[in-house]
Amino acid sequence: MPLAGNEFHMSLHLLSLVLQVAGITAVAWRKTDEILSLRTKWMHLIGERYDTGQGKEAVEYWRVIKPDSVIVIVLHEGHIILPAPSYRPGIGKPTVDFVGGRRRSCNGTSVRDDALALIKKELNVTAADARTLRVVNEGPRGYAIDSSFSSHRLWVAVCRLKEGVVLPSDCVRYRVSEVDVLLRDLECLQCRAALMELMLREPGLFKERRGWGGWMGRTAMTRHS
Ligand SMILES: *[C@@H]1O[C@H](CO)[C@@H](O)[C@H](O)[C@H]1NC(C)=O
Ligand SMILES: *[C@@H]1O[C@H](CO)[C@@H](O)[C@H](O)[C@H]1NC(C)=O
Repeated sequence: MPLAGNEFHMSLHLLSLVLQVAGITAVAWRKTDEILSLRTKWMHLIGERYDTGQGKEAVEYWRVIKPDSVIVIVLHEGHIILPAPSYRPGIGKPTVDFVGGRRRSCNGTSVRDDALALIKKELNVTAADARTLRVVNEGPRGYAIDSSFSSHRLWVAVCRLKEGVVLPSDCVRYRVSEVDVLLRDLECLQCRAALMELMLREPGLFKERRGWGGWMGRTAMTRHS
């Protein structure tokens, strides 16, 4: 039923009260000053001042805009496959991370295309090696990574490779049934979130299934060398 003018106004007023009680302000901030705008090939650093509309002093706000990214959780013969650990200057050590990287959105590629390009680059496997590839958070918006200075969007895909596909000798494998061991080792928050999202949505993926190869050893993490 459409609301009459007064009722509509009342509803808006109520909504704004509810939001204020919840600590959320529905008022958009107004930009009053640009301190810096620095564009590089990899990121756009922006410093601005905003009037928050709450009668307080202007807020100084810094953010980095980066290309959107995709994380691909790769499954193969009962294992979760990650590329060889790579060094992270920010924490000064190598870490295990899922296949992942930037989207080539400027070329109008789909999340699926970008996910396939990333598994090719990081695991040397082609689209023909994939039995299935699915985007977990399909849609135009992705998950917003908009905190700690960063502002971009993340998509998560899950790719099941065909049996018998040959993977690089330095890739890292965790059994799907021992996903807790992977969670112990995985330091990257985005990777953890991607994995936990998949665990919530598809718990069946992480239950032990018979009939997959390579399950006999007891070590959870096998580096083929
Ligand atoms: C977009 O496509 C062009 C031509 O194929 C290629 O040279 C360029 O590297 C692509 N850009 C990205 C970000 O992938
Ligand atoms: C990548 O895969 C192709 C096809 O299976 C193979 O011939 C090539 O040796 C692989 N490259 C590396 C670096 O493993």
